[in-house]
Amino acid sequence: GFSWKLKDHPKLPKGKTIAMVVLDGWGEAKANQYNCIHVAETPTMDSLKNGAPEKWRLVKAHGKAVGLPTDDDMGNSEVGHNALGAGRIYAQGAKLVDSALETGKIYDGEGFKYIKESFETGTLHLIGLLSDGGVHSRLDQVQLLLKGASERGAKRIRVHILTDGRDVLDGSSVGFVETLENDLAKLREKGIDAQVASGGGRMYVTMDRYENDWDVVKRGWDAQVLGEAPYKFKNPVEAVKKLREIPNTSDQYLPPFVIVDDKGKAVGPIVDGDAVVTFNFRADRMVMIAKSLEYEDFNTFDRVRVPKIRYAGMLQYDGELKLPSHYLVSPPEMERTSGEYLVHNGVRTFACSETVKFGHVTFFWNGNRSGYFNPEMEEYVEIPSDSGITFNVKPNMKALEIAEKARDAILSGKFDQVRVNLPNSDMVGHTGDIEATVVACKAADEAVKMILDAIEQVGGIYVVTADHGNAEDMVKRDKKGEPQLDKNGKIQILTSHTLEPVPIAIGGPGLAPGVRFRKDVPNGGLANVAATVMNLHGFEAPSDYETTLIEVGDN
Ligand code: 3PG
Ligand code: CO
Repeated sequence: GFSWKLKDHPKLPKGKTIAMVVLDGWGEAKANQYNCIHVAETPTMDSLKNGAPEKWRLVKAHGKAVGLPTDDDMGNSEVGHNALGAGRIYAQGAKLVDSALETGKIYDGEGFKYIKESFETGTLHLIGLLSDGGVHSRLDQVQLLLKGASERGAKRIRVHILTDGRDVLDGSSVGFVETLENDLAKLREKGIDAQVASGGGRMYVTMDRYENDWDVVKRGWDAQVLGEAPYKFKNPVEAVKKLREIPNTSDQYLPPFVIVDDKGKAVGPIVDGDAVVTFNFRADRMVMIAKSLEYEDFNTFDRVRVPKIRYAGMLQYDGELKLPSHYLVSPPEMERTSGEYLVHNGVRTFACSETVKFGHVTFFWNGNRSGYFNPEMEEYVEIPSDSGITFNVKPNMKALEIAEKARDAILSGKFDQVRVNLPNSDMVGHTGDIEATVVACKAADEAVKMILDAIEQVGGIYVVTADHGNAEDMVKRDKKGEPQLDKNGKIQILTSHTLEPVPIAIGGPGLAPGVRFRKDVPNGGLANVAATVMNLHGFEAPSDYETTLIEVGDN
């Protein structure tokens, strides 16, 4: 029968303290002025790279290696941390939704049948991120869902859009809204009452995560459910164009708006008897809105009016909370993650990051599952992020505080694994502010140093890696790899992640002599890291895990 017990590794000892450091958004790319990691002073990461060649390598962090539909899909934190923690490659949300739409199975599922009960008398509302970024959602999936739902009886449809500019170029929102409007116009020609009802920028409206700032979700609630927002427009394309003219705003931060009719009345508040679908497949930034739509007991903000709706997520976003209870596509069944195995095998675990990435090293790491496996064996510490600012203003973020917590956890002797996420290069990289991103990379490097110093003191082992690229390339490139210019001859800043591989380094005084990266796993990716770390804890990985990256040579 099944047992959680892992086999002892034939050569590697148990009981070493391991620091597992994930630099968020830290890829490896050519050295040039748009590579903020290269431009920044990063002596610690440089020394790992330039140290023993058998203890540093690159691993894949994008596309099929992390369960995304194609190798044109950039990596992201959800799939990256899922792979790191689960040790296997699961077909991820993006891919599962693609195939459910392609086969039509999405319409036979429990979730669709549930919302369909509202089609006769109620409105179908679709809420989500409108772009082709493929990180949280994809426009082509929304288009198919609109078509499929209308063919299956939805007569009145309202779309509540969140503009992107973070996983795609800033300014691209206008084109996405135009595409959507075209589709809705075609539905209207067929006699379906389909319109955009509200909108706002993803970082300011609805898509907060890890309970960093509930006001973000409240702004969305007011616009989507109550039909109230500071800006009112008759046309969504005009809305986005006009709001982009506000100084210092961008697609990510557009203020909330509602679409109104000739009498100034909102065209699509959510009311009793309606159906609601949140069409993002990615979990982190949907959990909070899902709670507000689903929970009866809810008091983080005043919902004012709580409509009786049939609500389904594109996926179920939290496997432990079973949230939401109805969903159109089943999420990847990530089970037996490395965290759960290690806890069952006596590995005491400490995990820490600041709010904006806290769930990455806990929730994502553990297969989109909130909470502890065993609270006696684990401690998760969240350092409150600065809220209400864009992180280019404070690019150091909480790197120092995270490193101090990690250091203290390492020195305490109470933990066998100390796992952190250092957010700087990603969060500041997403602002598109190159100078600030350089500062961010330096701050992350200093944090790594503090953690490595603590590992040195206790005779431990470190594993330093990243979840996907971001700060190593801050410019949109053409097919030849040259910076792409806009109409005015200015370079186009890349706020998104990249397709680049990420480094992984191992070392520390506790690393047994002879441990080195194998040469026969040239295509290794993030999913290979879990088995590697299990080995370093003195265990063999389960046989269905992606293979380890290390071997023990004779010195
Ligand atoms: C976000 O949600 O901030 C971006 O879309 C992706 O960033 P992450 O994958 O690094 O969290
Ligand atoms: Co990111």
